Amino acid sequence: MKESTTVVIGGGIIGLSIAWRLAKEGQSVTVIERGEVGQEASRVAAGMLAASAEVGYEEFELYALCRESLRQWPNFARELESDSGINVDYRSHGTLIVADDRDAAVALKRGFDFQKENNYPVEWLTREETLELEPFLSPRIVASVLASEDHAIDNRMVIMGLREAVKRRGGTILEKTTVESVDLTGTEVAVQMQGRSDLVADRIVLAAGAWSRQIAGIPSDLVPPVRPVKGQILELKMEAPFELNHVIRGRKAYLVPRTDGRLIVGATSEEMGFDKRMTAGGVYSILEGAWEMVPGIHDLELLSIEVGLRPGSRDHQPIVGYCRDRRVYIATGHYRHGVILSAITAIESAKSILSGNDSPILSYFSPKRFGHLDVK
Ligand code: GLY
Repeated sequence: MKESTTVVIGGGIIGLSIAWRLAKEGQSVTVIERGEVGQEASRVAAGMLAASAEVGYEEFELYALCRESLRQWPNFARELESDSGINVDYRSHGTLIVADDRDAAVALKRGFDFQKENNYPVEWLTREETLELEPFLSPRIVASVLASEDHAIDNRMVIMGLREAVKRRGGTILEKTTVESVDLTGTEVAVQMQGRSDLVADRIVLAAGAWSRQIAGIPSDLVPPVRPVKGQILELKMEAPFELNHVIRGRKAYLVPRTDGRLIVGATSEEMGFDKRMTAGGVYSILEGAWEMVPGIHDLELLSIEVGLRPGSRDHQPIVGYCRDRRVYIATGHYRHGVILSAITAIESAKSILSGNDSPILSYFSPKRFGHLDVK
């Protein structure tokens, strides 16, 4: 196969995953990251692979994509571990979606009926069954839904694994490197960076998350409509006798246990532009929501509070695929689903870039759905 050259702009989980899959296929790939890889939204995530628990009503296409990605994850994680030598803490305990009052139980039942009608792999559990699975849940819990196929990984370990795997597969990662502009006037694409000579490539993959609108030189009709959606999360330290094994989701918060004893608790969803301040109100609302479901968190040590900016698109669906100018491939807008969708995005995008064809699996999420990005 002829080697083609790709420059990936943005070293988050999406950009790195695509770069890894391309490098694995022997392609020449360079990732440019203005900070250090994976330190924005990809880091400030809980690592839920939560297709059934997180995707809302009517989001059929997104649900199908998440399910397909979830199906790919066990292999994707194994391959990544073998390529990098880094364990990504894949946990298959499942997710409990809990209702802690009657109102919440009615809403949960409505969602459950909808999920059953659509053959989602979910099971209704009574209060007693729920508490038997997770004794540290509040005795106020009315019922829960077990989504046994909704798993979790440690997104920070995935980032470390991807960084290593890209390099071991011969890819290049340029960190602390800012793209000044992209020049699309020639046959090839020239990427200009601060303090470095230009890179010339066959194409760019624009995967700069919430910052994807800020790359100079990309024609306005190719710029993806994304905005930052702020999320604050906390890390607690689980200590015996406290224990949680499943991911726990309620209306106001979620809790995601790691094998090393950390408990990730999230998250706010705030329209605050590029504001990355931690706020008392944000932390209060996450802790209140988590404490109502799992009162035992009260005594756990608080290890950290972090803020991330999710890339939310205009319709809250990912934007992935070729643009009118097929030298520009977009992979952003994953909003709350960047971690789960990184597997399918990377696998299908790499196939698409290698073949030059659009991915049928990603067609619903094409950048071309936005009028201003359309092709004639
Ligand atoms: N996927 C979890 C979040 O966005 O908060």
